[in-house]
Parts: sequence; C-alpha cells; structure tokens
Amino acid sequence: MREDLIRETRKYLSEKTGPCDLPDNCFNLKQFQGQGATSSSYILSIELPDREERRFFVKCYNQQNEAEAFWKDQLLRDYEISKVLSKIETERGLLRIVEPLFLLKDNFALVSEYVEGMPLSVYLFNNLKLSIITKIKNISEIEYIIKEVGLSLGGIHSLDYSLFTQGNACVSYKFSADFYSQKIDYFAEAIRKKIGDKKLLRDGVDYFNSTIEKIYLDNMSLTFEHSDFIPQNIIRDTKGHLFLHDFPNAGLGFGYCDLAHFISSLDDYTYLKTVDKRLVRRLMALFLTAYSEVRNVDWELLSAFLVYIQFYSTSILVAREVKPTLYKRFLLEHPVKKFENNISIYTDMNTLKDFLALPS
Ligand SMILES: Nc1ncnc2c1ncn2[C@@H]1O[C@H](COP(=O)(O)OP(=O)(O)OP(=O)(O)O)[C@@H](O)[C@H]1O
Ligand SMILES: [Mg+2]
Repeated sequence: MREDLIRETRKYLSEKTGPCDLPDNCFNLKQFQGQGATSSSYILSIELPDREERRFFVKCYNQQNEAEAFWKDQLLRDYEISKVLSKIETERGLLRIVEPLFLLKDNFALVSEYVEGMPLSVYLFNNLKLSIITKIKNISEIEYIIKEVGLSLGGIHSLDYSLFTQGNACVSYKFSADFYSQKIDYFAEAIRKKIGDKKLLRDGVDYFNSTIEKIYLDNMSLTFEHSDFIPQNIIRDTKGHLFLHDFPNAGLGFGYCDLAHFISSLDDYTYLKTVDKRLVRRLMALFLTAYSEVRNVDWELLSAFLVYIQFYSTSILVAREVKPTLYKRFLLEHPVKKFENNISIYTDMNTLKDFLALPS
C-alpha cells in the first residue's frame, strides 16, 4: 500500500499546493494505535520542505468474510457522505465532520485529515469513571459537549436528504418495516437463549413491531441517518473541538436510530458501579433537550427505537461481557418521557414498562 499511498498523496498535494516532488523518505507511515472493529488504520506523516509536518489518517477497510463489493460500497459511502457533510455548515451545534481527502480504491483505504485528540467515548470514560466517589472537575465542559452534540445531530437530521443522493447510491437499506422486524426478531432469538424472561423479550419485539408499523402507516418522513452515532465515532481534539466520522452505513433512514444509539451509549457507562447514574441520566436529558430544540421528537417512536437499539447495538455487547441478565435491565430502564415543558428521563417507573404492562 505504501507505494500507492505515496503516489496518491503526491498527486493530492500537487493539486492543492502546486507541483510536489517530495522524496519517498519524507513520507512516514505508522500503524495507528486503537484499532476499530472493521478497519485498521495508519497515520501518514509528511515532512514538508519548510520543515512543517502534515498528518493524514489512513483507514483501511478489512476485507474479511464479506464480498469485495460490500467493502467497496462501504468505502465509497464513507467517502461520499463525509465529503458532502464536511462542506455544509449546519445551522446549530458545533460538531464538525472529519474531512475526507482521497481514496485508494485498490487498497480499500480512505485518507482523511488527521485529528489529534481522543474519541469522545474515552474522554467521557476518563471523566465519569469515578463520578460516584469524586466530584467531576469539568462537568460544565461535559455538559456543553453533550448539548452541542444534541444540537448538531438535530441539524444533521434536518438537512435536505437529496444532498446525499448524487453520484453514489447512498440510500439506506435499512428502509423497510420488514427489515427492522426481521432484524429485531433475529436478535431477540439470540438473546432469548441467554435470559429466562422470554415474555419480556416477546413483548419488546411486539411493541417495536407495532410501533414501527404505525410509522409506515402514518407515512413518517425519513431523515438522513448516520447509523453509528456513538461517542466512539466523535473525536475531541486537543483544542476541545468535536469531529464526527465513520459514515460507511449512513444514508436515508430514521433519525430516531441515531438518537437512541447515542443515549444507549451514554447509558453503557452506568454498568460501572463507580459511575454516577443520576449524572449520566442528566446528560441524556441534556442531549435530548438540545436535539428537540432543533427537531420535534416523537417520544413513542424514540422509545421504540431504544428497544430496537437494545436488541442489537453495543449495549448488548457490553451486557454480554458483564452479565446476561442485564439485558433485562436495559429493556426495563430505558424509556424517555416528556413532562410538561421539560424533558426528562424517567428514573423510577417508565413508559416502556407501562407499554409492556409489567407489574411495577
Ligand atoms: N481522521 C482521524 N484522525 C484521527 N483519528 C481518527 C480519524 N478517524 C478515525 N480515527 C480514530 O480511529 C479509530 C477507529 O476509527 P473508525 O471509526 O474510523 O473505524 P472503526 O471503528 O473500525 O469503524 P467501525 O465503526 O466499523 O468499527 C478511532 O479510535 C478513531 O478515533
Ligand atoms: Mg468507528
């Protein structure tokens, strides 16, 4: 890959800044620490003539288990969508998009600007991990970040979807009620083997299916969907700026999935006994409040998508590591409810429990 990368980088630099004849030894390629699940990454450092250094991030999609065409599609989608988004300023929120620069199609690699910093998930973990024991120093910064992320997601979901349909077919395949129903059934089946309370899972699936049917009957409008909107995919750089990335599955879909995903990811932190649950719930409420300043939220739909996310997302993976019975906790404890003018997460009894007609 190194040769292709150097050649394409020279080409890119010469298009941007005029002829580039940097010798090979000005390009330094290093493996990036902190691998993702479906990719391996590198940092390309380029020593420029004025002794300045420029860094690019090279993300290579792993080509295992799936057909080549699948990875090509992921790569193109990631590139095309982040390209479009990085050029648009949404009206609200400070979340930026990592700018993609060029592709190495034969190597299944996407080259972007390198953002020096850490994933928001790590930043949150570092700050929240002992929150039950010690007072958090920079709570106002954390609250600010969560609020900006909420505003920004509202902004992204409000973009005109046709912006993303040129060139690359990026229409989300997560589109039909049947698709969602099958997926949720599949995961419920897998979980059912682990936990005893089968009725709860059945009720969860039925609840989701009936709500999703309603969406289609009501002709609910679709939005752009990131599809993996979690703190792991937001980088907080060394100056405190926030950058969203990782768009291989983005496309036309349901914004509620992104909302539910982010909330569930925050909730994941409460698996740690030393994390203050009340604080995390406050952060979830802040996020939702900010989002709902930009877009209306249908709370019933959000509850349904929280169930959906609980069946398949990272939360389930976390739960699997910790204790299988915690799946149950997720189904019971998650829902949101709107109180008068204020949005809050239920802490005691909750709407889903009501919907499922479970004894309190
Ligand atoms: N442009 C960038 N600059 C610096 N770090 C980045 C950049 N893009 C991604 N990263 C970091 O690389 C790691 C993996 O990122 P990425 O989300 O692209 O891959 P992934 O997680 O394998 O994708 P998947 O969601 O399929 O698992 C993360 O730690 C992320 O913070
Ligand atoms: Mg990722």
